Amino acid sequence: MNDVLPEEIGCWQRIERAYARTMSLHGYREVRTPFVEETSLFVRAIGDATDVVEKEMYSFEHRGDDLTLRPEGTAGAVRAYLEHSVQGREAVTRWWYAGPMFRAEKPQRGRYRQFSQLGAEIFGDEGPGCDAEMIAMLVEFLRELAIPEIQVVINSLGGPQARSRYRDALVTHLRPREASLSPESQRRLATNPLRILDSKDERDRNAVGDAPGIHEFIDTGDRDHFGKLRAYLDALETPYLVDERLVRGLDYYTSTLFEIRGAHAKLGAGSTLVGGGRYDALVADLGGPAVPAIGFAAGLERLLIASELSPPTSATDALVAPLGEPAIGPGLALAGRLRRYGIRCEIDTRGSSLKSQLRRANQLAVRMVLILGENELADGSVQVKDLEAHTQERMARDQALRVVVDRLMAASRSADAPTRQGPP
Ligand code: HAM
Repeated sequence: MNDVLPEEIGCWQRIERAYARTMSLHGYREVRTPFVEETSLFVRAIGDATDVVEKEMYSFEHRGDDLTLRPEGTAGAVRAYLEHSVQGREAVTRWWYAGPMFRAEKPQRGRYRQFSQLGAEIFGDEGPGCDAEMIAMLVEFLRELAIPEIQVVINSLGGPQARSRYRDALVTHLRPREASLSPESQRRLATNPLRILDSKDERDRNAVGDAPGIHEFIDTGDRDHFGKLRAYLDALETPYLVDERLVRGLDYYTSTLFEIRGAHAKLGAGSTLVGGGRYDALVADLGGPAVPAIGFAAGLERLLIASELSPPTSATDALVAPLGEPAIGPGLALAGRLRRYGIRCEIDTRGSSLKSQLRRANQLAVRMVLILGENELADGSVQVKDLEAHTQERMARDQALRVVVDRLMAASRSADAPTRQGPP
């Protein structure tokens, strides 16, 4: 679990803002659900033979309630959707969320015990157009974050019946090879054989090498859905790879499944930036009506590692520098007036020397310093020091206000905007 210090927060906020903008452009609305839910919700939704439920949940008992820190956002979103009978108010619901998730995983680069997800869920749309729009939206979002070398991988898992037929076929294929599997996969053969497909262990990879693919088992409806998804992605010119071995670690998935991966060299074991898919049976499984659904989540820390955007520059625009106690009152007033114009400014109220205040200005990377010394106090003026233009002028305070506002506004208009403002 990490601290995020102020030096790093600018990058976080930039990604969060870009995400909120992408979401609102696509008709999603933000939802905030609790960080803690009943343990049984996650067990039922995610599946009791998954790594998340078996090994990674922070669960505790509190006054007779079995509770868990949320390891992901989908289960809570479905619970909230049902609890507030949202399906009765609108046919299609598009929700997004951002916030911390908790999994007791072995920490490494890009894998943490508290991490942040940017996620979304759509309830009530069963068509492949919805899947394609979501994937294309994510590709565009990752491009906006200047994440290079992304790869979209898709698969179809079919419905519960196809999954169960495939599971049987896979077990039939693997049983004679059981002794050559890794100990973990030997155990998985009985509990969750599909997970053996995405094991990274060389022994497991050899054993599943010539196993049958899932697409032989999915029914015509799902095959048709997948075909249309591919056609839509082609039409949107969104490149993708089909990987019949893609299964992912949560049991609620049905039909469309997808991952977006970043450059392995930079991200290592955490190269999956986004994971998502359909879960058309989950709303009913959790006691609701039959509502089809699809969603995804991106790991914010991984996006930060992968993004090549340069960190945002200074968070402060101006420093008001009163020299000595008598200048502090007029300095506070000047700072207040600047802030009313939206200028982010700091004031030194300790009566520090000019030298140390200029050092602070450099540290903050502000452009403008407004110095109030004895002479300026006497005639109501101020020294305006522009650290970028390397100029210093003494002027009346009203005029100084206009000069500072004009220069900073002009600079912010010409600066690289954090998100793309118009069509490319
Ligand atoms: P997930 O694949 O378990 O899916 O996680 C989604 C993303 O969260 C991963 O691709 C990764 O970027 C990030 N992530 C997961 N675990 C960690 C970790 N320990 N440290 C850092 N980042 C991590 C879900 O959570 C599903 N709820 C997604 C979804 C929504 N499917 C349908 N709707």
